Amino acid sequence: MCGIVGYVGQKNCREFVLEGLSRLEYRGYDSAGFVCIDQNNKHLSFAKEVGPVNRLKEALEKVDYDGTIGIGHTRWASHGPAEKKNAHPQFDCQKTLAVVHNGIIEGHNAIRKRLLQEGHWFDSITDTEVAAHLLGEAIAFHKSLKAAIASVLTQLKGAYALVYLIEKEPERLLLIRHKSPLVVGVGDSEMFVGSDPIVFIDRTNKVFFMPDDSYAIVSSNHIEAYDFQHNPIVPQIKIHDHLLEISNKQEYEHFMIKEIYEQKRAIENSILFFKKLNGQLIDYKSDDVIVPAYVTNNNKDLEGFWGQIGLDISHVKNLKNLDIIAAGTSWHAAYIGSYFFEGIANIPTTVQLASEHRYSKFFKKDNQLVLTISQSGETADTLESMRLVQKNDIPVVCITNVAASTMMREADGFLLMQAGVERSVASTKSFSTQIASLYWLAHRIAVEKGILSLQAMKEAEEQLSLVSEILECSIENYKWEIMEKDAPFYSTFERFIFLGRHISYPFALEAALKLKEISYIFAHGYPAGELKHGPIALVDEKTPVVIFSVLNDLIYEKLLSNAQEVKARKGHLVVFAFEGQDELISLAGRCFVFPRVAPLLAPLAMTGVMQFWIYQITKFLNRPIDMPRNLAKSVTIE
Ligand code: M6R
Repeated sequence: MCGIVGYVGQKNCREFVLEGLSRLEYRGYDSAGFVCIDQNNKHLSFAKEVGPVNRLKEALEKVDYDGTIGIGHTRWASHGPAEKKNAHPQFDCQKTLAVVHNGIIEGHNAIRKRLLQEGHWFDSITDTEVAAHLLGEAIAFHKSLKAAIASVLTQLKGAYALVYLIEKEPERLLLIRHKSPLVVGVGDSEMFVGSDPIVFIDRTNKVFFMPDDSYAIVSSNHIEAYDFQHNPIVPQIKIHDHLLEISNKQEYEHFMIKEIYEQKRAIENSILFFKKLNGQLIDYKSDDVIVPAYVTNNNKDLEGFWGQIGLDISHVKNLKNLDIIAAGTSWHAAYIGSYFFEGIANIPTTVQLASEHRYSKFFKKDNQLVLTISQSGETADTLESMRLVQKNDIPVVCITNVAASTMMREADGFLLMQAGVERSVASTKSFSTQIASLYWLAHRIAVEKGILSLQAMKEAEEQLSLVSEILECSIENYKWEIMEKDAPFYSTFERFIFLGRHISYPFALEAALKLKEISYIFAHGYPAGELKHGPIALVDEKTPVVIFSVLNDLIYEKLLSNAQEVKARKGHLVVFAFEGQDELISLAGRCFVFPRVAPLLAPLAMTGVMQFWIYQITKFLNRPIDMPRNLAKSVTIE
């Protein structure tokens, strides 16, 4: 979490740094800060504000300092609450050295204790501040900056991307990268620094992705880079032809509702893109779906669709075991997807939470493939799990929405979704696009393994198109009732239970996550069959129970029994059902009915209304929907 921006060059940097910070707000918005070497007095001048970047912008409108070298930061609070003193930049004792940091410095308390004993004093309770003092101390002691860095590196543990601005070094920024990402954009006598190339991609397409465990001394014309053993690294400058996708809210009140409405297009664009990679679509003409230059597999000489995504075709043909690793909403999509791989491609599939997987015993399986799923491609837990798998020589394909994200660059192969930038912290269009992508991929693997015909694959693509249409139309059907009746009514409850069975169980988990993260109403997602083993004790008239149906007769009957159990205890039932499921519908206090679709796509059909319903309940409560408290869009720490 946390976003870093930096600049060194010939121009004043303040505007660039502030704009970059706004683009990085998805990494945290608890506070923001800016520091530069003031061109007038040659000293560090800085500002920090609690809250989103706009507050910092407003504060800086009242002052006029600027300079040709500066850094900025947007924070997701980990060590110390969101207060000005804990905002970055952090400084050494003399306030002549500033640092911004993304990550967590482990063991910082012991370092702080030692520094305090040696006479240092601290302004904040952050882990970051020790990194400022350590370098300040090392610079005073060592002759060269490189030697000072070497001494600091022996003391830092954890995960850190650090950028230092040093008053005595008015033409050089110091960058250190260990686990957390840091990139440099190479301009014309200017260098841009960011946690993500989105910061500078409209100014240069020449990008140096700093390798893990490296540091660099960056001036306007030069990058001097080293690994952690202090061997020089020749910076690999890549051309990153990625168009800057700046999403704005247009006529919508929040990004979340805009993104809910973008789902049909996000799914269609992704499937068209995959079809294009697959060699289909010879006569397709759309400006929306262009295979960008950066979509190449990781320099492997492989052919065809599998080659394009970075896999060897023989591996796919012989695939026997699939494991999917993800976090949060992506994990829910993965869980839904596991039913596709087992049901369509006949491959035993496990789904693992990245945060658990990385600390569990690892078992290699025969003919195994691992998929990681991540909207951002930066989630620390998923990334570390992926690295662990790769160390065991098992290929990993990542499904992501962000081109050139760390995961995409490090995976053996990747399937790049085309959902477009997702700005709201609550994942919506990435969830539905992940489901659609997994459905498509399961069919594609089944074709390769000779289980399905090309005709069946074509039909699956048509089903996806139909269901994306249903997803959108159903919102329109229920829109006014939800806004006028449901939102005021359901916003009065303090807790909800969400139930599903089989493929609708992970969907219930997703609905519960969505409600709690944006509305702050407590929501419990549970497998309906487990209700009687405990949670039924919670059922009363003050706890709505939301049941998501399935299109499988046997499981539907079981769900029906669970609904009756709730009803018998005077529970208020909200039902998401399909046409013809009259018995379930008749039990409901509130019901949403959807056209019947291919059974495995039942969750996708219900997605739009589920999200819209939760959005409207939350809107009624007047919560900061796009930036819920305590959260960040991209979770880049453990
Ligand atoms: O970028 P990722 O898909 O890896 O993010 C994983 C989770 O942090 C994310 O899905 C989170 O749960 C959602 N934003 C919640 O809506």
